[in-house]
Amino acid sequence: MSEHAPDGCDWLGAMAARHSVRAYRADPIPLRVLEQLQQALHNVVPLRGDVQVRISLLPYAAISSRIAVGAILPVRPAPYYLIMHAPAHPFRMEEVGFRGEQVILQATALGLGTCWTGAFRASDALAHAVGASKAEIVALSPVGWPARGIAARAAYAAVETFAARRGARKPLGEVAFAGTWGRPVEQKLLAPSLERALDLARLAPSWSNVQPWYFLVRASEVLVFADSRPQRGNSRPGKPYYRLDAGIAACHLYLALVAQGVNCICEGLADLEPATRQELQLPEHVVPIARVAFAAA
Ligand SMILES: Cc1cc2nc3c(=O)[nH]c(=O)nc-3n(C[C@H](O)[C@H](O)[C@H](O)COP(=O)(O)O)c2cc1C
Repeated sequence: MSEHAPDGCDWLGAMAARHSVRAYRADPIPLRVLEQLQQALHNVVPLRGDVQVRISLLPYAAISSRIAVGAILPVRPAPYYLIMHAPAHPFRMEEVGFRGEQVILQATALGLGTCWTGAFRASDALAHAVGASKAEIVALSPVGWPARGIAARAAYAAVETFAARRGARKPLGEVAFAGTWGRPVEQKLLAPSLERALDLARLAPSWSNVQPWYFLVRASEVLVFADSRPQRGNSRPGKPYYRLDAGIAACHLYLALVAQGVNCICEGLADLEPATRQELQLPEHVVPIARVAFAAA
């Protein structure tokens, strides 16, 4: 359960500014910035304390092979890579999303570019470098200074053109419900801090921009769900990336509330009793991921 998000980061600005960077400058990352990134790794707060996740920051040279870092990857590799790995566990995907996005946002706040990457082929060298099995490697992200110019724009557009909705996000009314499933939330009835947090959750990155998340807004909590229907290859054996995406969205929701001074906690949400599912009118394809509860002031 997350009760204390690390402060000292402009979370709201980072969520608004972040986008996937697919081309990098060769310039090295200064030691001072690398130390701040290491600190970001250290500061990460979990969704569930009992799920093991590790995030390793490695120089490209340590990975040594382009094949190791993926099929669809930056035109020019980045100087560093975040390698996110976790042993098999029913809740590991959302945990990787929730924790990994905190590092991605802190990197964004430092001016660095990143790109969540799920379409990679882990090599023995990569697994050895992080001390994990290949199956444990869940996601990667390059980290470096974004390249500018036509090549960089082309690298971005090449992927986003084929992404769902060409990179645009779903309107809030499509993914946020009030009380029970399917009743679109009325934005004018939301507290401004919650409205802003839901909007920033809507901007979260997801596998091919599928945005497989839903928010059920109740009196003193928001329940986060994932759409478990496979879309655009987002469900791989042992790696349901839709759960990872919903973990990222839960991270945005939680950090956006905390950054606005809302006293809240975020915790993993396991299977719900059939009676609760019925009461909330949940369709079969949605799976619970997280709960953000507003603590009494
Ligand atoms: C779990 C996950 C896996 C992703 N895998 C890839 C990938 O393999 N290659 C890639 O270029 N982008 C990948 N992306 C980035 C998405 O395509 C991107 O987040 C989405 O299209 C929205 O664009 P934005 O990040 O610029 O806001 C991935 C994102 C997530 C969250």
